[in-house]
Amino acid sequence: MDRSLQLKYLKAMGIDVWLAKHPTEPTAIEVEQVATQDVTEQGKWGELQSEIANCTRCGLCNTRKNTVFGAGNPEADWLLIGEAPGHSEDIQGLPFVGSAGALLTEMLRAVKLTREQVFIANILKCRPPDNRDPKAEEIAACNDYLQRQIAYIRPKIILAIGRIAAQTVLKTDQPLAKLRGKVHNLDATPVIVVYHPAYLLRTLIEKRKAWLDLQLALQTYDKIKR
Ligand code: URA
Repeated sequence: MDRSLQLKYLKAMGIDVWLAKHPTEPTAIEVEQVATQDVTEQGKWGELQSEIANCTRCGLCNTRKNTVFGAGNPEADWLLIGEAPGHSEDIQGLPFVGSAGALLTEMLRAVKLTREQVFIANILKCRPPDNRDPKAEEIAACNDYLQRQIAYIRPKIILAIGRIAAQTVLKTDQPLAKLRGKVHNLDATPVIVVYHPAYLLRTLIEKRKAWLDLQLALQTYDKIKR
């Protein structure tokens, strides 16, 4: 509600309102409201973490060692979304910690970011056995978790890592080649599609294109920040 309207109502109800001496200083009521909001927001993140840790929404709960919630800064401007945990991620409960993860860290470094400055999540929070592609029903069961992570983080830019992440985030079945090199949108948030580092490890020849993807991401982010 508009602040002046709120004050008018409170006055009409006979409630004394203490105004700050300096208009930029928040009132005691406002400070309390913000503090309560923060606690509620942090509570939401914690709730989501424990929901995911205990999830039994699909059959992957029977084969996983650990769920992989994601890692990094939950207030980050950059949200990176991968496909699903692999063997090392399943064991450690952390995203992108295997050899693809090491390359992802290097890719971030190329745009002057550290893993601590971004948040890294996956479409699936549990490892599909033998690293097979996620099934449609597994993606559907897990989707609400990712949506809640996006809503909480409110990133300024999203990097969809690899075909499955890109197709899921953008709700399309277009091939990766068609999705790369463009700025897409998820609601009002720009989404850039980048090669999956596991793919880059196999096809070093595409590394130049990966560099172009990252440049597009950086340019897009710089424009938003201006
Ligand atoms: N590949 C992914 O897409 N995500 C991970 O967390 C690890 C490997």
